[in-house]
Amino acid sequence: MSCFSRRQFLSGTVIAGASLAARFPWLANSTEAAQESAGPARVVIDPDRCISTLDRNIFGSFIEHLGRAVYEGIYEPGSKFADSNGFRTDVLKEIKGLGVPIIRYPGGNFVSGYNWLDGVGPKKDRPRVLDRAWDSIETNQFGIDEYATWCRAVGAEPLIGTNFGTGTPETTVALLEYCNVDKGTKWSDLRRAHGYDKPHNIKYWCLGNEMDGPWQIGHIPAIQYGIKARDAARQMREIDPSVKLIACGSSGPFMPTYLEWDQQILEQCYEEVDGISLHRYFGNAEETEGNTARYLSMNLGMDRQIHEIMAVCDVVGGRMKSNKTLWLSFDEWNVWYRQRSGTAVDGQRKVAPHLLEEIYNLEDALVVGGLLNTLIRRSDRVRVACLAQLVNVIAPIMTNENGLFRQTIYYPYAWALQYARGKALEFAVTSPAYEVTVAGRPAARSHESMSVPYLDVAGTIDVENKTVSLFVLNRDLEKARDLELVWHETTPTRVNTCQVLTGSDLKVENGFDAPDRVVPKPLDPPQLGAKMALQLPARSYVLLNLGLA
Ligand code: AHR
Repeated sequence: MSCFSRRQFLSGTVIAGASLAARFPWLANSTEAAQESAGPARVVIDPDRCISTLDRNIFGSFIEHLGRAVYEGIYEPGSKFADSNGFRTDVLKEIKGLGVPIIRYPGGNFVSGYNWLDGVGPKKDRPRVLDRAWDSIETNQFGIDEYATWCRAVGAEPLIGTNFGTGTPETTVALLEYCNVDKGTKWSDLRRAHGYDKPHNIKYWCLGNEMDGPWQIGHIPAIQYGIKARDAARQMREIDPSVKLIACGSSGPFMPTYLEWDQQILEQCYEEVDGISLHRYFGNAEETEGNTARYLSMNLGMDRQIHEIMAVCDVVGGRMKSNKTLWLSFDEWNVWYRQRSGTAVDGQRKVAPHLLEEIYNLEDALVVGGLLNTLIRRSDRVRVACLAQLVNVIAPIMTNENGLFRQTIYYPYAWALQYARGKALEFAVTSPAYEVTVAGRPAARSHESMSVPYLDVAGTIDVENKTVSLFVLNRDLEKARDLELVWHETTPTRVNTCQVLTGSDLKVENGFDAPDRVVPKPLDPPQLGAKMALQLPARSYVLLNLGLA
């Protein structure tokens, strides 16, 4: 639909929600857009209307052998913070405190040239290897055994990515046998010989990383990947039928083979896998031309991507007459657009070079809040998601030899981890909207505009603890917005917390010199009642946690 005809369509509509949903289905379960004239925003909350029981693994993260994520990030034997394993206790405490449920490892692009055998056994015998993905020196002092030990220490479930680049199904099943078989076989006995008597019991496995990308070591055509994944998956289930296997989906909508790749690989391996991966990085540069109003709408692009990949899965499953529904693993997502070229991505053959050390500002944190809202709303289908990454590399936590600081994006992530619990609520939302040029779509269609609700709302209900959490992004850059909360079947009895992330300068950042420039602040809570009025400051992300009777 052209820009003109789309405007005509909108102007003839008072409450545009339903019609918009038909044209842009990825808006349907999110926030229904309405005309500015349609009055204040409103959300109807009914505790019985739920999208899903939240799989907490949608708030996972990712550590790659890249830059200073592992070395100087989570592992630094020479540091004053190191424990007897060489793990940085300050970082460990931070991640444990956050409660990160699942952590993907060891890559990323790194994994496609990684020989896991280089990273096990006596540390003095481990080779220094040239990592061709990031042109860095990998010392292999941290490998699969250290990762499994570290994961248990931080209380996270491991999620291992396997090498589908230079690796084969044989190297993948050897690693699974090493990790999950108790004893009495070649690889399980090798693990025992290395001092790990108990199996690591790794449940989640990614079958390769971004194998659709020409940049990926060992990139192969879709059908070939699908056959390889099927073969590996069948062998893996022989070793351990309980594993959860994730096929490697498209690297993102920017790929010329987007959706086609997903369809072709699934035609080969649908029955053998449990889920498919999605990746996406957002930025306020070319895609938005630096326009913050567009930037803040980008989580709707994530909604759309989820919707599209779901559709492909269901077409393939339907054509196969399969009884199985695949789930989605959004196992790389974040803001990343500054540190993307030159020495920011080239390790120049150093150990632990400073790569992808993106410093985040307030507007990035608001975008991350919106992306978390999308993941909560799509939790019926997204079962695993990983904020990429966790420490030093496009990360919420940054370290130096004296400690760490929390980046702006840390805070929306910490809120989701702490407060998004129980079931995801299905809301009826009405919000005034603004028009933006469609962000992140191919250039040929960049003239299209779309209507973006000022308020983006997600929420959860924890029936056991009798609490409801609301997460609201106010995309309005100028004005505070009122949101009416209309309660059905229940009325909150107390406000447990009401906080806001906002500020007058959207470009402000935290750093070692000023770690608290951007931190959550208390917000005036709404009056309790069957109808409540919540005021959202301009350009803000708000958390409201309420107790129920
Ligand atoms: O997370 C950084 C990189 O982004 C990963 O190595 C790769 O999978 C993606 O392109």
